[in-house]
Amino acid sequence: MRLDKYLSQRLGIPRSESRRLAARGSVTVNGTVCKKADTQLDEHTAAVCVDGQPLAGQYRQFVYLMLNKPAGVVSAARDARDTTVVDLAAGDYPRRQLFPAGRLDKTSTGFVLLTDDGALAHDILAPGRHVEKEYLVTLDTPLTPEMSAGFAAGVTLADGQTLAPALAEPAGGDPCRVRVVLRQGVYHQIKRMFGVYGAGVNALHRTAIGGVALDAALAPGDYRELTEPEVETLRAAARR
Ligand code: URA
Repeated sequence: MRLDKYLSQRLGIPRSESRRLAARGSVTVNGTVCKKADTQLDEHTAAVCVDGQPLAGQYRQFVYLMLNKPAGVVSAARDARDTTVVDLAAGDYPRRQLFPAGRLDKTSTGFVLLTDDGALAHDILAPGRHVEKEYLVTLDTPLTPEMSAGFAAGVTLADGQTLAPALAEPAGGDPCRVRVVLRQGVYHQIKRMFGVYGAGVNALHRTAIGGVALDAALAPGDYRELTEPEVETLRAAARR
């Protein structure tokens, strides 16, 4: 089917409007900007986006969701006792095998990526890829220059494991609020890193993964699909 016909049908707009959308570079087909209205595409398999938003009702190979995890929910696909991050979204995606690409502790909040794209999840989580994760942490004591310097040099945990360099800087306002950036994913990593300095973590919120920021409009428990540029940003971060 021609691109302009496809857009007209999906969006309920005149063909002339479809041609204008394409001509101004608003339309991508399988990730590439397509300005030619007479481009032929397979309407069953093509991934078409307008201004970065996938068109509803089209087949997509994978789903990518940004979830704002609330406290008390576990980062797993299934759990016998607790509500999981997948439980929060699965109802809208009954035929998808969603799973969280990376974990947050039960008490932690913020950005969890839910997907059924195993290859991208693997690349994001692979230790060698160093995809950046950003957190807003509230300590039970003010951040000290010693903590920041220790994070930058690479903290040695109580069990002797030395971690990769990380960032810990004041988040502004309350001196107990800290912006942390990690490129590793060790169990309870941030709590254990601050624990080395005798500091406790009162709250931990993930604000970004691989350069994609958690949408501030998402209330705890809410989720939305990533836009195509956001998926591309993640892919690029995982490739580096
Ligand atoms: N580090 C932690 O200690 N907890 C999290 O949930 C994430 C990073």
